[in-house]
Amino acid sequence: PPLEKYVDPLPTPLTAIPDPSVYPGADYYEITMRQGSWRFHRDLKPATVWGYWAKNPKDPRKAIGMGYLGPTISVTADHPTVVKYRNKLPTTHLFQSVIERIRSGDPQLTPMAPPPYESKPPFPKNVSVWNVVHQHGGFTAPQSDGMPLHSFSPDGFHAESYTTLDPSRVKPNEAICAYTNHERSSMLWYHDHGMGMTSVNVYAGLAGLYLIRDPADERLGLPRGEFEVPLVLQDRTFGRDGSLAYTMTQREGEDTPVVNGKAYPFLAVEPRRYRLRILNASNERFWRLRFDVPRSALLQPNMPFWLIGTDGGFRTPLHMLNFLIGPAERYDLMVDFSQVPMGTNVTLTNYHAPVHYPGMPGQGPEISEIMQFRVTKPLSGGADRTTTPKKLKLPAVAPMEPKPHTRRREWVLYQHKLFGTMTFNAVPFMEPSEDFIKAGSTEIWEYINPNHDAHPMHVHLVNFQVLNRQPIDAAGYQAGYEKWIDGGRKAEDKPVLANYLTGPPIPPDPDEALSYKDTVKSYPETVTRIITGEFTPPTDTIASIPGSGTVLPATYVHHCHLLEHEDDDLMRPWTIVGSGG
Ligand code: C2O
Repeated sequence: PPLEKYVDPLPTPLTAIPDPSVYPGADYYEITMRQGSWRFHRDLKPATVWGYWAKNPKDPRKAIGMGYLGPTISVTADHPTVVKYRNKLPTTHLFQSVIERIRSGDPQLTPMAPPPYESKPPFPKNVSVWNVVHQHGGFTAPQSDGMPLHSFSPDGFHAESYTTLDPSRVKPNEAICAYTNHERSSMLWYHDHGMGMTSVNVYAGLAGLYLIRDPADERLGLPRGEFEVPLVLQDRTFGRDGSLAYTMTQREGEDTPVVNGKAYPFLAVEPRRYRLRILNASNERFWRLRFDVPRSALLQPNMPFWLIGTDGGFRTPLHMLNFLIGPAERYDLMVDFSQVPMGTNVTLTNYHAPVHYPGMPGQGPEISEIMQFRVTKPLSGGADRTTTPKKLKLPAVAPMEPKPHTRRREWVLYQHKLFGTMTFNAVPFMEPSEDFIKAGSTEIWEYINPNHDAHPMHVHLVNFQVLNRQPIDAAGYQAGYEKWIDGGRKAEDKPVLANYLTGPPIPPDPDEALSYKDTVKSYPETVTRIITGEFTPPTDTIASIPGSGTVLPATYVHHCHLLEHEDDDLMRPWTIVGSGG
């Protein structure tokens, strides 16, 4: 029988407690990855899951976590954080059978080729579990960035580029990372980035929120405390016994919506403004979200709301009825539940939701309803004193403008015609970096997508803005690109993008215009152009942690945030070099 909807209250991940005494001038956390159990729904038995637990400096016996996902790390902008990550997961993977099938090259699996690490394995053959934590959206020195080849296993094996700060304080299954927190007020997140294993590791539960708070926010009059609600959206499939099933190998997308770890939860709310901070932490699913209300409650079927921020922080408020959120994107909303009568149920729904792109046939099961807000709680404290969206004085977003000499770089989302594996520019992830970027420069990156699916593109280290998109002759471009590859990649054969454009540039969508982004939807049969912030990695800012700053050359990655694509193999390194060199 289908799961009964709206019987479980929405959980809110607890906030980790820092220990300021370990590294002077920085907040210190110890985060442990563990296997545990978690009940996703009242009528399901507890499932075995993976999650992050934070050490509680006030009571070491009471670690902070819930089994699934991880505690929220909430920091003050510019006050650095040091985190020790400890890998206490079992040495057999939660999805060991899936991994065995991928390793044996089972052609039924969606990642159609063996994982990229099969040719140059980062770990001995008998090791099946390895992990690393990446702070998504963070302005982080490369040795703390948690990239795939920084992975380490519970039994203490290290991938080739494994790195830690303060090595005298770590055991082989640990790594210490430092974060400058030089970000704008925004919601980042942390998640697993294990080499070739990110999809199964995140699916098991390895993701959490990382909030950057700016003291200046207090004057904005935004809803806060219990009226600021984070929503971590995922899709999952459950076995009859309540266990987590990973079916992404047969289809793209799972069949049950899960918010903050609960299937179809509800939240009782007051008739007032709320700030909803939404993260799409699904492996592959795009959602088109809206708030449905009964006809009797409003004159229209959807409750309007205001978009006040995106991946990289605040933006000019935008009045909206729905939006499309791709994997890893964040949407910061102001929703006023006093627009509807007391007693109204407001349902967060997913309108026409093929997995990969609206209007394109998705292969995953459709999910139409997600969670319910019940406007049933009396207004506490007399009145809603938060600022109305029209009067909000949010920090302005400066447009990033290309200059005539701004360097342009092309990234072709190339799907191998036989194997189906995807790469950037037909170069596997494990090939050394061949993209060298001058420190301090900004660049225009063109994501050329000749496929029929949308892909979320994520760049580490920098925020960017969307410049425009332009339709391309996808079949022609793909054919030209294959010819270039088959002919031995001679410069003169390389397809010239300008010759394949089939229409004028299209401005960014209203919800991404003049916004700071770290993940952008690359639509099918389209080139998506972004302009990056300066490629200036953090220098040594944390005095008590020697070696926490960046030394050039510094290599980072960018990749598709469909996690199965990132694993296989739509990811490339790029390198920042000194402006003198
Ligand atoms: Cu959220 Cu490199 O990833």
